[in-house]
Amino acid sequence: MQTRCATAVSCPNIAFIKYWGNRDDGLRLPANGSISMNLAGLETVTSVTFDPQRREDEFIFDGVPQAGPALARVTAQLDRLRGRAGSSVKARIESRNNFPLGAGIASSASGFAALTAAGAAALGLNLSERELTILARRESGSASRSIPAGFVEWYAANADEDSYAETIAPPDYWALADVIAILDSRPKKTGSAEGNRLARTSPLQAARVADAPRRLEICRRAVRERDFPALAEIVEEDTRRMHAVMRTSTPALNYFAPATEELMRAIPAWRTEGLPVAYTIDAGPNVHCLCPEDSAAEVERRLREIPAVERVLTARPGGGARVIEG
Ligand code: PMV
Repeated sequence: MQTRCATAVSCPNIAFIKYWGNRDDGLRLPANGSISMNLAGLETVTSVTFDPQRREDEFIFDGVPQAGPALARVTAQLDRLRGRAGSSVKARIESRNNFPLGAGIASSASGFAALTAAGAAALGLNLSERELTILARRESGSASRSIPAGFVEWYAANADEDSYAETIAPPDYWALADVIAILDSRPKKTGSAEGNRLARTSPLQAARVADAPRRLEICRRAVRERDFPALAEIVEEDTRRMHAVMRTSTPALNYFAPATEELMRAIPAWRTEGLPVAYTIDAGPNVHCLCPEDSAAEVERRLREIPAVERVLTARPGGGARVIEG
């Protein structure tokens, strides 16, 4: 076999209805379904080169060779692809992000979506979009939602092949923006993969999961009808429920910085004053401010006035993972 290389690009996504906790940790089958929007402009670019001369996988991230858990997760994902292709050839993986890692912008989502798409292409696997979402899911749940374009739903199911993600509306369906207030761009202490395994220790998780079909239906309808007031209420409610689970897990997880809570008070007040904007927060301190595109400049202006806001990044609805070479 010759050296075989492919490069893929993928954007992260922001969940409107969150994934938190698995019904099966091994297969990473989520406890509840989730809905998200891909974030154009933020991206991970990953090249995978399979080389028969190579004895080990090598993973370079933002120019720095990786070892330990970061390398182990990349190898585990390539092993799934190699298993499909009947190959044992090792690879060099080179990946770059244009946004801060581990800070509540779902970097594992774009990372594993790009790795799965590039790895499959380099191995000559001819996988459907649905199959790629299932494979990406196995290493990072949210990565399944970065494979399809635009607004995406990932389904909860009891069988591996039924828990996949698909587009529910294309990127140009709704001119929304995600104005991200970066409060702290350092990597978090407890990654989401580990945090997810703690969800079931919270007494609030069962209630959060039982109510998920209702929240998903409200969110689906809000996207379909481009109903911003309905979207705003449901994404904020869903965020509060997920963080309540995190904070009541054993050990307890608290991803918030003091300014996170300040913004959770300010944003609904801005909405009451007539500025359409809603907060949503993943496993990190940063606050994603969802708003119609024509309100983004005003949201950016208000965020920049807050001293604790280090940086503001704005993303529009993004496309799916794409192989750009190979
Ligand atoms: O799949 P992971 O490990 O990136 O977990 C993502 C969990 C949240 O970002 C907190 C919620 C979500 O649905 O994206």
